[in-house]
Amino acid sequence: MDALKALVLYLIMLHTCKITATNATYGEWKTATATYTKEKDGSIIIEGACGYGDLHRETYGKYSAGLSSMLFNKGSTCGACFEVRCVNHILWCLRGSPSIILTATDFCPPNYGLSADYGGWCNLPMEHFEMSEAAFTEIAVRRAGIIPVQYRRVKCERKGGMRFTTSGSSDFYQVLITNVGLDGEVIAVKVKGSRTGWIPMARNWGQNWQSNVNLTGQPLSFEVTTSIGRTLTSYNVAPANWQFGQTFAGKQF
Ligand SMILES: *[C@@H]1O[C@H](CO)[C@@H](O)[C@H](O)[C@H]1NC(C)=O
Repeated sequence: MDALKALVLYLIMLHTCKITATNATYGEWKTATATYTKEKDGSIIIEGACGYGDLHRETYGKYSAGLSSMLFNKGSTCGACFEVRCVNHILWCLRGSPSIILTATDFCPPNYGLSADYGGWCNLPMEHFEMSEAAFTEIAVRRAGIIPVQYRRVKCERKGGMRFTTSGSSDFYQVLITNVGLDGEVIAVKVKGSRTGWIPMARNWGQNWQSNVNLTGQPLSFEVTTSIGRTLTSYNVAPANWQFGQTFAGKQF
């Protein structure tokens, strides 16, 4: 009986490890669709549902993408990287199916007035990428309206440290976290002032994290955890005289 229990436990553990491993190695290609939005400078919407604002122009540029609800995962996927290639369309896909790497920076809202196969690309349960025209034309011909794609999660290659942008007021403190390497998907954040312990922050929207603790006048340290369970601590990222609206660089995964 004990042996049986041990076996069941072993199988459960094996299963759990398998899930974690899949998460960490990304791997498998899945099918989705993609369209593009026309914009002169090649970047998607300025603010975006991830809250990156103008920051994403310099960080993610034309490789920014809006994701349908299925992929957006209520903003948790903001900052995650996807390799995308056009497949199975001889007229629309560029020869050799070249791939590009996109960063999730925005939400592609559903349009339930349209059916999922005619305009409602971002409706549940569709998996859809809304790309910049510049990125789109690296994998498909411009005149293709919507293309079949394959995608897979990949490691985010980032230059420099993670960036922390403060906003708010003394009794509402918010930090936006960008330029995150590894899986790019921040799932937990803690902040510490010189006079406080580690304070868990709550996701406000996208990759904006908030707390109600007054941290004015204290140097700030951050502890960031990503979806694959890696945690990185950047000490004294912001000096004591930090101001709201400033951006500071921390360590990188
Ligand atoms: C926040 O802390 C700073 C520095 O200690 C102080 O000057 C300010 O009055 C505090 N703000 C609030 C709303 O308590």
